Amino acid sequence: MKFPERFSRLPPYAFPRLRALLDHHAPGGDVVHLTIGEPRHAFPSWVTDVIVENAAGFNRYPQNEGSDDLRGAMADWAALRYGVTLDPASRLMALNGTREGLYNAAMALCPEEKNGQRPVVLIPNPFYQVYMIAAISVAAEPVFVPATEATGHLPDYASLPEDVLNRTAIAYVCSPANPQGAVASRAYWERLIRLAEKYDFKIFADECYSEIYRDIAPVGALTVSDELGTDPERIVLFNSLSKRSNLPGLRSGLLAGGPETLVQVKKLRAYSGAPMPGPLQAAAAKVWADEGHVSENRALYQEKYRIADEVFAGLDGYMPPEAGFFLWLPVADGEAAALKLWQATGVRVLPGAYLAQGEGAENPGHGYIRVALVAPPDETRQALLALRGCLY
Ligand SMILES: Cc1ncc(COP(=O)(O)O)c(C=O)c1O
Repeated sequence: MKFPERFSRLPPYAFPRLRALLDHHAPGGDVVHLTIGEPRHAFPSWVTDVIVENAAGFNRYPQNEGSDDLRGAMADWAALRYGVTLDPASRLMALNGTREGLYNAAMALCPEEKNGQRPVVLIPNPFYQVYMIAAISVAAEPVFVPATEATGHLPDYASLPEDVLNRTAIAYVCSPANPQGAVASRAYWERLIRLAEKYDFKIFADECYSEIYRDIAPVGALTVSDELGTDPERIVLFNSLSKRSNLPGLRSGLLAGGPETLVQVKKLRAYSGAPMPGPLQAAAAKVWADEGHVSENRALYQEKYRIADEVFAGLDGYMPPEAGFFLWLPVADGEAAALKLWQATGVRVLPGAYLAQGEGAENPGHGYIRVALVAPPDETRQALLALRGCLY
């Protein structure tokens, strides 16, 4: 029996790869998981009550694009956070977490050809892995663009050759960036929007980490595009309750875009989408409407930024993250460092190369480990101290 060629060269996903690297070695101490970007702070306690109150909804098929209540709450949130007015009926839809949206939006929106040629999907390197699978699934050419120290840890799409830009249909951007913690500035978004207008491509702005930051809320792509009077079809915005509200298991994401974009994505998802269950939509609506728990959550991460800055003070190449909850720490070889750390201390981190494309030292993640600041502050401090002692 044949399997699809296009997926045949994929390496195993980052976490099975990590298990293969570490699990046949004994940990050198109490195990601390700093690998997966899964928040471990509490979500608001009332979420459970809302789900129970709405449990009768499990008896019905949920609304594909999200209930009126949920889309209304998302529109109010976008007004508050991005200062933009979005009609909940035509500019917003609910996702079952942003991961499926980042995938399905490419399925719905990437054309078969761009200027008579195979389309290109631009992907920052390193990157959140679904971008690549989306590009491969739509038979586009994924073009991985370094997002390294040299480029401020964001991709410099304007530096690409003209023939690549002419074929570009979609450009993914992650800000705040997973894993580097870099934030796209207003000027960055403006340049990218101008480039997208010149070469007629869509920007997929993945802003899942936008609510976890130090002092200043990262500027959103929608805010900048609104100020510039950009065609609303140019930007497709993704955000999520997973990190903002510590609810990765609730699966509430949002997609905002132009009316035609929404028509196309909704149509595809009416055939093949997996909508969010109704009682969970009811809870998500309440969570998008509440900011109190978000500032409390942010304060916990701010405490952990301070801990990290203290532990790594004076370390050559340490990048205090501007936002998000990862440290992207320079080492000689990420795999060797992750293994050494595991065997010496029991602390588990992810080799940077597992989040990027490229062989050996060509891989922009090769000389990094990613450390997720998801454990409680005390546990985080102990683990970071052990890490610094072991690797530096
Ligand atoms: C950059 C980035 N985008 C999207 C997601 C997916 O989030 P969600 O839980 O909304 O599917 C993640 C989750 O780790 C992520 O790191």
